Amino acid sequence: MTPTHLLDTQDWSVADVTALFNTADVMAQVMERTIKKVPALQGFTVGTLFFEPSTRTRLSFERAARAQSADVVSFAAGSSSLSKGESLKDTLRTVDAMQADLYVVRHAVSGVPHQLARWTDARIVNAGDGRRAHPTQALLDAYTFQKNFSGFDGFAGKKLAIVGDVLHSRVARSNAELWTKLGAQVTLCGPRTLLPPELEQPNVTLTTNIREAAEGAHAVMALRLQGERMQAGLLPSLAEYRVRFGVTEQVMAHAHPDALVMHPGPINRDVEISGALADSEGSVIEAQVANGVSVRMAVLYMLLVGRK
Ligand code: CP
Repeated sequence: MTPTHLLDTQDWSVADVTALFNTADVMAQVMERTIKKVPALQGFTVGTLFFEPSTRTRLSFERAARAQSADVVSFAAGSSSLSKGESLKDTLRTVDAMQADLYVVRHAVSGVPHQLARWTDARIVNAGDGRRAHPTQALLDAYTFQKNFSGFDGFAGKKLAIVGDVLHSRVARSNAELWTKLGAQVTLCGPRTLLPPELEQPNVTLTTNIREAAEGAHAVMALRLQGERMQAGLLPSLAEYRVRFGVTEQVMAHAHPDALVMHPGPINRDVEISGALADSEGSVIEAQVANGVSVRMAVLYMLLVGRK
C-alpha cells in the first residue's frame, strides 16, 4: 500500500520508490502527447501552501495536478492573511474549509508539514521544510539519474558527489537518504563550516576536497549557497569558495567519463557551478525540471488514487 503522506523519503520503501518511478514513466508519456492532460485526478483538489519562495517546485506541482485534471487552490504567504496575524493552524483551517484532498507544503521551519498532517485529514506532501528534507527533489534527482546515465544498470556501485552548502541543504539530506537506500554511495563535500559531521553514516562520506569528492563519481550535484539561512562568518570569502568548491570542467575531469552534472536549482552561475558546465552536454539540470513534473504527477496519483 502507498504511504498516506510523503513527508520524508525514509517513509517510502524501495518498493514504493520503484512503483513511483514506474508511474512517473507513464506520466512522462502523457507529457509527450500533443494534449498533455488525462482525467486521472478529476474531482480531486490539490492545495499548494508555500510559506517560502519557490519557482520549480510550486509550478511543477501545479502543472502535475492540472495535467491530471485536478483543481488547484494556491496559497502564497506573501499575499496571505498571515501578515494580519493569522496563525499557521488557523491558516490551514481556512484553506481546509475549501476541502482540498492533498496539500503540498513548503515552510522555513523543519517539521511543519508533519504538524499539518496531524491537523488535517488530507494527504500532505513535503515540498521542503527548513534544512531538513525535500523528498520530491531527491526523488526527481534519482529518477533523472536513472533515465539519463548511459547504460544505467541500477544504483548499486554508483557514486553521487554533492558539493556546496551541505549544512543548510534539505536537498543534500534527502538525496543522501534516498540514494543510499537505493544502493549508491554518497560523498558530501564543502567547507568544514558547511559540512555537519553528523551526516557521516554508512555509505555517506564527508570531505573538504572537491577532487576527492568527484573522483569516479557517476553524478556530481552542485548546491547553492543558501544566504537566506546562513549566519555571517561561515565562509572566508566568496572568491575563495568559488576556487575551492565551484564545480567546473576541471573538477568533472576527475569524475566517471559519463558522469552527469546536476543541480536542484536555482543556480548561481559561476559561483557553485561554472555557467558553461551548467549548459554542457553532460548537464541534466533542465531534465531535472522536466522530470519534476512527471515524478510529481506520480506522487499525486499514488497518494490520491493508489498504485498503478
Ligand atoms: N529546487 C527547488 O526546490 O527549487 P524551487 O525553490 O524553485 O522550488
